[in-house]
Amino acid sequence: MNKPFPKDFFWGASTSSHQVEGNNYNSWSVWEESHENIQNSGIAADQYNRYEEDFDLAKQLGHNAHRLSLEWSRIEPEEGKFDEKELLHYKNVLIALKDRNIEPFVTLWHWPIPVWLEEKGGWENKEIAGYFERYVQKTVECLKEDAKFWITLNEPLVFTSQSYYKGNWPPQKRSLVMSIRVAHNLIKAHKLAFRAIKSIEPQLEVGIAKHVTCLEAYPPHLLNKLLRFFANYISNIYFLDRIKNFQDFIGINYYFHARINLGIGKNDDLLLSDLKWEIYPEGLYAVIKMIYNRYRKPLYITENGLADAEDRNRTYFIEESIRNMQRALEEDIDLRGYLHWSLIDNFEWAHGFWPKFGLIEIDRDNDLQRKIRKSAYRYAEIIKNNGIL
Ligand code: BGC
Repeated sequence: MNKPFPKDFFWGASTSSHQVEGNNYNSWSVWEESHENIQNSGIAADQYNRYEEDFDLAKQLGHNAHRLSLEWSRIEPEEGKFDEKELLHYKNVLIALKDRNIEPFVTLWHWPIPVWLEEKGGWENKEIAGYFERYVQKTVECLKEDAKFWITLNEPLVFTSQSYYKGNWPPQKRSLVMSIRVAHNLIKAHKLAFRAIKSIEPQLEVGIAKHVTCLEAYPPHLLNKLLRFFANYISNIYFLDRIKNFQDFIGINYYFHARINLGIGKNDDLLLSDLKWEIYPEGLYAVIKMIYNRYRKPLYITENGLADAEDRNRTYFIEESIRNMQRALEEDIDLRGYLHWSLIDNFEWAHGFWPKFGLIEIDRDNDLQRKIRKSAYRYAEIIKNNGIL
């Protein structure tokens, strides 16, 4: 092994509330109910009740960090009315992590919103940044002793694209103008939340989880390079540039590689996940380097994973992703953690439950029994050695 991973490197996995908790009532659950062709998230993995069991497994696998999200619709089920019971629930969740020496990374918004807010126009509503700020203020006030790392928004531009441009996700709008308006509301929401958190407790670390795609000009002639430059700016840089003075760290979610060849070109696609996404761990190094060179902030990989029900490629994927992080560390990039997506199989949004991203399988035919996948043991071994020997 060359340069080792830093001693205090965070190793773990990620989840999000709507995808694992079960029994949520929010903008997504209402949408699921009203669409026959969409699977219902229902009880999901019932993590709302089984979080201790899941954290025991994470501990058993050597994780020292875990990313989860708080469900806004539980905390503020009615406009301006905060549910102290739910805040206490999340306090207990965070304490359960701390009790196991697992550092929480807390996401404040991972896509669904409360139904009352969706009815007011959701992210199109000019006032939403203020609503978000109020929710963040109340929540962080209550949980500030229980978590140091706070992620305001998950993948804001994946959301604007799927929900307001392509029309795939609720509220299924198809408008470029609207998606830009929503992006601006998200930028404002992040800035207000950042300030609110910092004024509650300056020691807390605040960032976002940004989806970053590895884009290559291929073949690298001038026109492709130009197209790549614009695509990279819009999808990877635009949002981060606007909040660059409002973040202590950057969370990178890495899943995609795309070759730009007079438009989005054809990748080699030698290896595909169950969702037919190209498996391209080399791209992790490229995106880490690009983001670090531009912003010089501490980086965490807040998501990285693949749908692989048979667990055929996950070990390879994890090993290669870690080798690519190692490459970045050798260049003195300030990379501080890796949170694999996901700890457990979960509700994969409009796809329903069939894509299996979990290090741990959830047996849906057998009382949601948890079963550790082989690749999770390999990841545990790597964690134990703090890198690949
Ligand atoms: C999202 C997750 C999702 C994962 C796999 C990420 O873009 O943040 O919620 O499950 O991708 O599709």
